[in-house]
Amino acid sequence: MTILETLGITKSYLIGNRRIKVLDAVSLAVAKGEFLVVKGESGSGKSTLLAILSGLDRPDQGRVLIENQDVTDLDEDALAPLRNATFGFVFQSFHLIPSLSALENVMFPAELKGDPDARGKALTLLDRVGLGERAASFPHQLSGGEKQRCAICRALINEPRIIFADEPTGNLDSVNGAAVLELLLELQRERETTLLMVTHSPEIALRADRVVTLKDGRMVADGGHA
Ligand SMILES: Nc1ncnc2c1ncn2[C@@H]1O[C@H](COP(=O)(O)OP(=O)(O)OP(=O)(O)O)[C@@H](O)[C@H]1O
Ligand SMILES: [Mg+2]
Repeated sequence: MTILETLGITKSYLIGNRRIKVLDAVSLAVAKGEFLVVKGESGSGKSTLLAILSGLDRPDQGRVLIENQDVTDLDEDALAPLRNATFGFVFQSFHLIPSLSALENVMFPAELKGDPDARGKALTLLDRVGLGERAASFPHQLSGGEKQRCAICRALINEPRIIFADEPTGNLDSVNGAAVLELLLELQRERETTLLMVTHSPEIALRADRVVTLKDGRMVADGGHA
């Protein structure tokens, strides 16, 4: 079953005085529960593709379908609730709220939803990434890797059906990077979560169900492994 689809996506930016096609007729269908890796050189359009797939940005041309609903023309008021209910985002920069503890940061999206078990779920997730003891710490008291793991817990607390991860292990050491990857893969298996990940790591690409490569705005490989 296809959970996410783009049809002939085109996106261009004015760079200097030249209009550059960053994405050129990209069509991609992602199956429910799939672990898809997107790779390609710096500037090849990976983050742009993720932003369009997740409704954070809009294509110039083409359509975007989320769970078979064409969302291309939805306005922000309609898109935001859909995003909140369906997606989790894991980026390289974590945007934790400095005045909230690790626990409160993780609980935040669940509390917004009125989840009565926000605290319990947040503690469980923090435990799973080895941060149970640091629940009361504030972001400035955490290392980069601890902040990243905290941000990942926050992205997962509302049990998103689709997780978008842009270089989620890029600034972690190999031990923490592996822990983060294992957590994401466990959720993918347990909950049949769909996982879309931009990564340069050949080791991670080997674990993926499918690897697609962007080059000069086009998808040059869609199929086997890296
Ligand atoms: N808002 C913008 N305005 C102008 N140009 C942009 C904008 N966003 C991205 N670009 C350009 O689009 C191209 C693709 O950017 P994108 O961030 O998608 O690349 P990427 O594949 O994610 O690269 P990286 O691996 O370095 O993160 C780049 O040349 C970038 O400079
Ligand atoms: Mg990028």
